[in-house]
Amino acid sequence: MQLQELLFSQGFGTRRVCAGLIQHGHVTVDGQAVTDAGCDIEAQEGLRYTVQGKNWEFHAKAYVLLNKPAGTECSQKPSTWPSVYTLLPDPLRQRPVKGGVDGVQAVGRLDQDTTGLLLLSDDGKFLHRMASPRHHVPKVYEAEVKHPLDEAQLGRLREGVVLDDDPRPVRALAADRLDERRLQLTLDEGKYHQVKRMVAAAGNRVEALCRTRIGDLQLPVGLAPGQWRWLTAAEVESLFLVKKVAPKSSSAGG
Ligand code: URA
Repeated sequence: MQLQELLFSQGFGTRRVCAGLIQHGHVTVDGQAVTDAGCDIEAQEGLRYTVQGKNWEFHAKAYVLLNKPAGTECSQKPSTWPSVYTLLPDPLRQRPVKGGVDGVQAVGRLDQDTTGLLLLSDDGKFLHRMASPRHHVPKVYEAEVKHPLDEAQLGRLREGVVLDDDPRPVRALAADRLDERRLQLTLDEGKYHQVKRMVAAAGNRVEALCRTRIGDLQLPVGLAPGQWRWLTAAEVESLFLVKKVAPKSSSAGG
């Protein structure tokens, strides 16, 4: 692939802008300065290059995770709070996508006050798969709740509560007490405000909420709120392979 084309595919602007960046000496590949925009590059996954002194990796498709801070909206056009997209560098937001909206898109949405694991990608199949209710990708949340948790509340969450927009009860795959006011909930659906509404229906109230896991992917410990990183190939593969898990019938933990 021509270097100019490679940069274009990664969101660095029009082909002309990318050629300019290269010709003006702003690009290195594998540690070597390259000033020929037509230079043929083997575009391997993870190829390291720099643009204007910043480190980048080549990825044919972008799969990233963001530790969403509180006070951010998962919308491209936020109404009140800054968009999570402003936490990502411009190239990730500008990658050209054939037949779609350019740039990475969030997999579902978290409320403005919810923190934690948010996936974003420009791979339409991945976005569809992760969002589709048919695939039942389990998601784990940790909630701080207002009132002490008791067995009756945990039982209601496991057995199913009725929310106001659907007569069918929704139940947690698992509901575990982490301590007196901390609950871990595993869900395989993504209804609007689902955790908050389920906890309210069970007789308590969510005061803070963090998503800590999607499928096998855990929120990385060292990733501060507002920071992002690429997913590894193994992480992407494991998310594509997620299967429905059977509801847990265990008693409360902690
Ligand atoms: N459930 C909620 O109530 N809010 C979120 O942000 C995610 C799940």
